[in-house]
Amino acid sequence: MDAFTIHGGAPLSGRVRVNGSKNAALPILAAALLTDEPVTIRDVPRLADISNMLRLLERLGCTIDEHESNGMRGLTIDVEDESDNTAPYDVVRTMRASVCVLGPLLARRGMARVSLPGGCAIGDRPIDLHLRGLEALGARITLEGGDVVARTPPTGRLIGKRLFLGGANGPTVLGTANIMCAATLAKGTTIIEGAACEPEVVDLAKLLNAMGAQVMGAGTPRITVEGVERLHGATHTVIPDRIEAGTFLIAAGITNGKVTLENCPSDALVATLDQLERVGVHVMALPGRTEDPMRETVEVQCERRLKPTIVTTQPHPGFPTDLQAQMMALLCVADGNSVITERIFEQRFLHVAELGRMGANLFHQGPTVVVSGVRELIGAPVMASDLRASACLIIAGLAARGQTTVRRVYHLDRGYESMEKRLNSLGALIERVDEKQLVEI
Ligand code: EPZ
Repeated sequence: MDAFTIHGGAPLSGRVRVNGSKNAALPILAAALLTDEPVTIRDVPRLADISNMLRLLERLGCTIDEHESNGMRGLTIDVEDESDNTAPYDVVRTMRASVCVLGPLLARRGMARVSLPGGCAIGDRPIDLHLRGLEALGARITLEGGDVVARTPPTGRLIGKRLFLGGANGPTVLGTANIMCAATLAKGTTIIEGAACEPEVVDLAKLLNAMGAQVMGAGTPRITVEGVERLHGATHTVIPDRIEAGTFLIAAGITNGKVTLENCPSDALVATLDQLERVGVHVMALPGRTEDPMRETVEVQCERRLKPTIVTTQPHPGFPTDLQAQMMALLCVADGNSVITERIFEQRFLHVAELGRMGANLFHQGPTVVVSGVRELIGAPVMASDLRASACLIIAGLAARGQTTVRRVYHLDRGYESMEKRLNSLGALIERVDEKQLVEI
């Protein structure tokens, strides 16, 4: 397994491009199952999670052709064999997002068998809302040996319905993706009340409509889908990754750097930019570079002393849970006490103990952590536990005095492409090593 050794203290400076969004690309790739015509997706990042999804699509009868245009990685997915409808446990357990093949498979092939995802480091990951939504559309759902088996009604086609998809912790992003995809081929009209409003849902709807679907209201809590008989092929460029962009902005902030970010989805980061501004991390759009607020070129400049703030994670457009850990690292060195409350995944705090090993002063109680700012963090050996916790620890290591070793960076590789190379291009001092090479000091 790989680890990062990080020598902290270097302010980041320079220019980096934000890649296409992992969390947009995953359900978008799954949506290719809704047609037997080729679907081309551009700006797909090279990530472990994406590779897992491509392997799953191949097991579901797809051929995948990789190409490049304008420096962006493109994939053309062509469904050639629709006989296998199973997403097996060995795939789903490594990537929970595999669940987003459920809706497309069911709607297109009339039957889907998807292994129930287990829990993960950030907590239980139920899919009860996905299943209730599909049942509302007439699906017959059974649990067989740890698998969800979903079948269309005897007519072979789902039936449009008005349904409520919200859960105790707010809307479900991949649940909304699953129901929206399934509804595109249903008979009649579907209204999804309590839908997730995330930009990734909007991007998926844009692809579905390019494929001939009739999806209205994506990005609002009420999505309407007029079912059609079939969908056709399309070409789509994935929106930039707002979580990767936020991660770079925070890394620039904690190192008191000056970084230019290209392809920044500022319009999907308003709550995050608001918090960064409060703390003293100023993000300015460079004039005249683009008129697309989802693909801006921005420059980050920071105050020397950062100010504390109060952050509560919420469904979009609130502050994203996927930036909670990274923001915590930043606030560890702010000048005062901050409060972070996690409302989406209440167990998403495995990075707290690791930050404490680096001298952070954190008080965790239930869904809340009080962050009492310290003058500096001290480098130490730490362990990544999940994707965003690994980003948090790397950010902390960039600012810490001395050397930080982050183990199990395979978590990071799930969601960030060549992160050490891109941070090093901004002046960071990160080396990727085999954990076996590490001698505990
Ligand atoms: C998506 O996960 C993202 N993943 C997550 O990003 C992100 O943290 C999450 O949305 C919330 O924004 C992808 O898009 C691939 P949810 P998803 O269903 O859809 C509960 C990352 O770091 N819930 O929106 O699986 C659930 O437990 C990842 O990139 C139910 O109770 O999350 C949670 O508390 C991590 N029943 C809340 O809803 C359900 O059936 C939101 O979960 C589904 C969800």
